[in-house]
This record gives sequence, structure tokens and C-alpha cells, in this order.
Amino acid sequence: MQTQILDGYKLAEQFQKQLKVEVDALSEQGIKPTVAAILFREDTGSQLYTQLKKEMALSLGIEYRVFEFSVLDKIENVLAKIKELNQQIEITGIIIQKPWRKTWVDAHDSEINKEAFNSWWEELVVTIAIEKDIDGLHPSNLLAIQQGEWREKGRVLPATCQAVLRLLELAFQTDHLFSKLRTEQLKTIIIGKSDLLGQPLHAVMTSKNCMVEMIGSKELSKRIEDKVFLKDADVVVTATGKYHLINGSFLKTGTVVIDVGEPRGDADQASVMGIAAALSPVPGGVGPMTVISLMENTIELLK
Ligand SMILES: NC(=O)c1ccc[n+]([C@@H]2O[C@H](COP(=O)([O-])OP(=O)(O)OC[C@H]3O[C@@H](n4cnc5c(N)ncnc54)[C@H](OP(=O)(O)O)[C@@H]3O)[C@@H](O)[C@H]2O)c1
Repeated sequence: MQTQILDGYKLAEQFQKQLKVEVDALSEQGIKPTVAAILFREDTGSQLYTQLKKEMALSLGIEYRVFEFSVLDKIENVLAKIKELNQQIEITGIIIQKPWRKTWVDAHDSEINKEAFNSWWEELVVTIAIEKDIDGLHPSNLLAIQQGEWREKGRVLPATCQAVLRLLELAFQTDHLFSKLRTEQLKTIIIGKSDLLGQPLHAVMTSKNCMVEMIGSKELSKRIEDKVFLKDADVVVTATGKYHLINGSFLKTGTVVIDVGEPRGDADQASVMGIAAALSPVPGGVGPMTVISLMENTIELLK
């Protein structure tokens, strides 16, 4: 089978052109979209993504202000900055660039664990004013997504989630993705349960009555042990950060694979080629689409 490579750079370029027109129109009305990004400097991945987002924002005419902190800074200082940004009228959107958990844990003492990181992160994201939450990180957003009401409530999908959906639309060549998945009874397996992708994607697909299952380490191990692998999936979205976790032999022929792993892919591209119907590469798949989706969200929340 010929595997279609889903070119995220090319797709992002198309959205960039459309978005530029919208930003120019806002500019003519004297509106300057301005994003405030909180960056934890120890995390090299966050530094890179922030740079890419800043460059994209500038190319569109969106201001992108970066506020740097250390992961060791008192949380009160970071919260104070977020509250200040919430109050500033000229700030139209706020994003907190989530550091890699390992970066955060390594910087603290060995007693500090996954739960401590999760509660630190949650305390930060609940502080973002909902109307400025351009990455859809606030927990109440997940509830709105689960209820299928995020649009009506003036919320946006997390940028990575939106990026995955756009790549799936490209793979299936449709603007009616959920309807296609539903009517053709196509099953999606999402690997990874994080708030940036797994949970919101699972929530949006469930709210649209699509067949979807979200799994983590335990469930994937069990599937491998039972030799089920991912053979029941028509779509696999993988977001674990585990290099080459997904092998072509796990998949049935014709599966669409969206690889969210960064900086190196979760999917072993060489073994997936020829088995998958379509694959989003790393780099050049979800990454550029996440960047443009964040910009789209910024404009969306201004409307
Ligand atoms: N391209 C982008 O724009 C973008 C955006 C966000 C994230 N990412 C990338 O996505 C990846 C995940 O990031 P994250 O923030 O979501 O990480 P995270 O919060 O640490 O979550 C990782 C998830 O992967 C699961 N997992 C880990 N090892 C696994 C295994 N061996 N088998 C099955 N599941 C496994 C974990 O499940 P258990 O808890 O059950 O182990 C967990 O749910 C990273 O590579 C990150 O860089 C990319």
C-alpha cells in the first residue's frame, strides 16, 4: 500500500494565508492581537516551540510577548504574572508553555513526583482567564468539550487537538470528519492521556459519537501481550514521547497514523510505510499545524 505523507508544513501554509487576511482586517479596525506566553527557561523543547510560535505570530502581525520563569520560581510569582496578564486589556491571549515533566522533576528534589507536577500545572492553568485561554488549557474547557458545547461557550480546542483533527481531515479528504468516522464506523485509538491532547481529543470524538478509545502504558502492554496490538484501529493518534513505540506490525493495513511525539516520532516511520494509508511525519506533521492552530485560536477568541 502507498502511504500518504501528511505534509503539515504545506497545510499550515494554507491556513497561514487565510489567517493573514483576518489579522490584516483586524489591524484596519485598529485591533492588534497580542499573545502573552509564559516560558520555563530550563525546558529546551519549550524554548524551541516558543521561538517557532513567536516567528509565526510575527509573520501574521500578531504580537507575541514572552515572560520567562524558572521551574524553581515560587508558584506565587508565576500566578501573579498570569493574574496581571488577565487584567491587561491589550493582552488578547495567554499560553503557558508546558515544560516536559522530567525537566520539572529533575530540577526539584527527588521526593517530588508526577502528582506534584500535575498539581503545579493545574494551579497555573486554572488561573488563566477563560476568555484569554487560547490553548484551551483551563479544566472547565474539557467539560465544555465533553458536553459538545465548546463553540457555543466561546471556547477553543487545544491547539494540538485541533492540529490532529486538521491532519485527519487531510488524510480522509473531508470537511466532515466526524460524520465520516461515524457513518463508516471507523475506530480511533489515542495513545497518551495528557490534557494537551489525549483527553480533549477523546472528549471531542466522544461528544460527536465517534468510536474512540484512549490508552496508556498499561493498556498498550496488555494489547501487545494479547497480540491484539492496534489491529482494531482505523486511526491511531500517538502522543507519548516514546521514540519508535509504534511499529508497523502493530497496525492493520490502511490505518491512518498521526504522530504527535516530539522531538522524535512515536512511530517507526520506516516500518509504518507501506502499511498505513497515511502518516504524519515528525518533524513536519503535527508540529507546524499546532503552531498555526494556536494563532487561529487567538483570532477566534477575539471574535
Ligand atoms: N507536536 C506538538 O505540537 C506536541 C504538543 C504537545 C505534546 N507533544 C508531544 O507529545 C508527547 C506527549 O506529551 P505530553 O505532554 O502529552 O506527555 P505526558 O503528559 O507525559 O503524557 C504521556 C502519555 O503517554 C503515555 N505513555 C507513556 N509511555 C507509554 C507507553 N510505553 N505506552 C503507552 N502509553 C504511554 C502515558 O500514559 P501512562 O501514564 O499510562 O504511562 C501518558 O498518558 C511528547 O513527545 C510531547 O513532546 C507534541
